[in-house]
Amino acid sequence: MKGIVLAGGKGTRLYPLTTVLSKQLLPVFDKPMVYYPLSVLMLAGIKQILVISSTDHLDLYKNQLGDGSAYGVQISYKNQDTPRGLADAFIVGKEFIGEDDVMMILGDNIFYGANFGELVNKTVKDFSTGATIFGYYVKNPKPFGVVEFDKSGKVLSVEEKPANPRSNYIIPGLYIYDNRVSEIAMNVEPSDRGEIEITSVNDQYLKIGELHAIKLGRGIAWFDAGTPTGLLQASNFIEAIQNQQGFYVSAIEEIAFRKGFISKEQYLKLAEGQKNSPYGQYLLDIVDEIEDEKRSQGKF
Ligand code: DAU
Repeated sequence: MKGIVLAGGKGTRLYPLTTVLSKQLLPVFDKPMVYYPLSVLMLAGIKQILVISSTDHLDLYKNQLGDGSAYGVQISYKNQDTPRGLADAFIVGKEFIGEDDVMMILGDNIFYGANFGELVNKTVKDFSTGATIFGYYVKNPKPFGVVEFDKSGKVLSVEEKPANPRSNYIIPGLYIYDNRVSEIAMNVEPSDRGEIEITSVNDQYLKIGELHAIKLGRGIAWFDAGTPTGLLQASNFIEAIQNQQGFYVSAIEEIAFRKGFISKEQYLKLAEGQKNSPYGQYLLDIVDEIEDEKRSQGKF
């Protein structure tokens, strides 16, 4: 399974914040927004990752994340010249996907919650064919993709930003597709807003009876940080959790070390380089704890 982080678009809902800056590099409390989706792919055990961004901003991502080797993953980059829609990721990423299946996460989507890492890891391991999306209950589903279930949990419909939603379950920006996705994306007609919608891709899988959806429980926090309020709420939430627990959310160095993607030496090098910030200090503070945990799990 390969992974795509879609981090393009113009971020117009955040103007003037994003007039010159790339949305997915804006801070969500103490780290760039892109760390959060990247960490989800890493938790899922995915090591081959493509970051897609606009031509203007792609170099910033390269500077921030490099080729991924520091984190024990391979990160490659591809530009999307115009924001044609989310489904365009599978056209831009066709060559990268090659013969594989793919998990895509939107660069402004933030997930956090008990056992979320295990859930995504298991979902990737269990994936065989078709498409898997998630359903997340919200009060106001109108600004999102919406999924309707029957009583047995089977998907009945998917709709993009419906005026009259058929359910309160929105489709967060985390999707798994089999290898047919690029072909399907190439045949999607643009919507009224002129984009090739991911919801149209999901609808194609639904039509062939291969769209599966997993409901995320209320214990999972999900944010779309693509609006001023979403961005602030996400920052406040991350600050509150980190301050209360002392554990950091989506520290990619920590995840890489815990998952055995990098050695202790590689980890310490990353931590030392950032030791003047609370983030770097945290990485240094927890090294023994991580080692103890790994030892108790027989990972040494
Ligand atoms: O956040 C979840 C929602 O994301 C889903 O529920 C919707 O079904 C899905 O369409 C999407 O809705 P948004 O209206 O929030 O999508 P937005 O245009 O904000 O794009 C999402 C991210 O993808 C954003 O970080 C920018 C990036 N993007 C967007 C487009 C259209 C690209 O990189 N390229 C693009 O062409």
